[in-house]
Parts: sequence; C-alpha cells; structure tokens
Amino acid sequence: MKDTGAMAEHPITLRRYASTDAAATLRCFQRAVRGTASRDYDPEQIESWAPREVDLDAWGNRRASVDTWVAERDGEPVGFTDVDDDGYIDMMFVDPDAARNGVASALVQHVVDIVNARGGAELSTNASITARPFFERHGFHVVTEQRVERRGSVLTNYRMRRVLSTG
Ligand SMILES: CC(C)(COP(=O)(O)OP(=O)(O)OC[C@H]1O[C@@H](n2cnc3c(N)ncnc32)[C@H](O)[C@@H]1OP(=O)(O)O)[C@@H](O)C(=O)NCCC(=O)NCCS
Repeated sequence: MKDTGAMAEHPITLRRYASTDAAATLRCFQRAVRGTASRDYDPEQIESWAPREVDLDAWGNRRASVDTWVAERDGEPVGFTDVDDDGYIDMMFVDPDAARNGVASALVQHVVDIVNARGGAELSTNASITARPFFERHGFHVVTEQRVERRGSVLTNYRMRRVLSTG
C-alpha cells in the first residue's frame, strides 16, 4: 500500500488490483463515463462506450491480465488505472464523487514511478475529450486527434504522449 497523502482527512491509498475488485472497478468506469464524461459526449456515444450490461467475468479477466492499480479512499475503491510494458495507459477512471481531489493525479504519478523504475522512455494513452486537460496537466501532449468506433458510435479522442527524462 502507498499512502499518497493527497487528502489530509481522507487519504488516498494505492494498491494492486485484486480479483475481488472487479465489480467496484466496473462501477467506477460506468459512473465516470456516465457521469463525468457525459458532458463531452452525447447519450448514444456514452451508451456505446459504457453499456449498462457488461460481463463481469470478462471485465475482471481483462483487469487481471494487465498491470492494474486501484485507488482507495476510506477503504473503498474510487479509481483505477493500468499500464502495459510499453508505458501505455489503457484506462484511467475516477468515480465522480471523488473527482478533482487528486485521485487520478496519484495514480498517474504511480505509473510514472513504475515506468521510470524500469527505465521506460515514455507514457502514452488515448485520452477522452474529458481527460485531455488532466493529461495535459501531467505533461502529456497531443500527438493526434482520432475518431474511434465503439459499438457503432464514433467518438473523438486524442493520442497523447509524455516523454520521460532519462538518466
Ligand atoms: C479524467 C479523470 C480520470 C480525472 O480524475 P480526477 O481524480 O478528477 O483528476 P485530479 O483531481 O487528479 O485532477 C488533477 C488536475 O487535472 C486537471 N483536470 C482534471 N479533471 C479536469 C477537467 N474535467 N477539466 C479540466 N481540468 C481537469 C486539473 O488541472 C486538476 O487539478 P485541479 O482540480 O487542482 O484543478 C476523471 O475526470 C474521469 O474519470 N473522467 C471520466 C472518464 C474519462 O474520460 N477517463 C479517461 C479515459 S482516457
């Protein structure tokens, strides 16, 4: 466990994903998309991105198959992220009730530390319109704007990259 000290009264702790986190991380994902991201995408796009019916076993298997980290507040998961061997972040989601409290910042700093420790050169992600300012705040820049298809809807996102200092 890593105490980030992000919030004095309700500190955020980070820990590795466990199989028992499947439902809570899926809930964070659905609430983050349906709540926070719905200001930047229309209802059809939101439904395609985060459908209500999701196979929990498939979700859990995917989370367990990548290096996933969970942020907890008061013992409850409030956000999660992941990172692969190339420094690619596939997911970064924070429950709307915990937003703008430094949860994602703690997660991204943790990923930076992991990739730095193994000598990686960069981080990358495909950031939503909603997440773009967050990643810019953390030193990522837009490589290209993209249109991606998800379950029949076309969504705009941004390929973003942050070069890590080496040596
Ligand atoms: C993007 C997201 C993960 C950020 O999580 P968060 O825990 O609220 O982020 P933080 O509190 O660490 O934000 C740090 C800084 O990033 C910037 N930032 C974060 N969210 C922002 C927003 N919606 N608009 C503008 N700037 C934002 C701000 O500079 C913020 O600092 P401040 O609160 O002191 O102004 C969260 O909003 C989310 O889950 N969004 C919906 C889902 C999504 O799009 N996920 C990413 C898919 S690629």
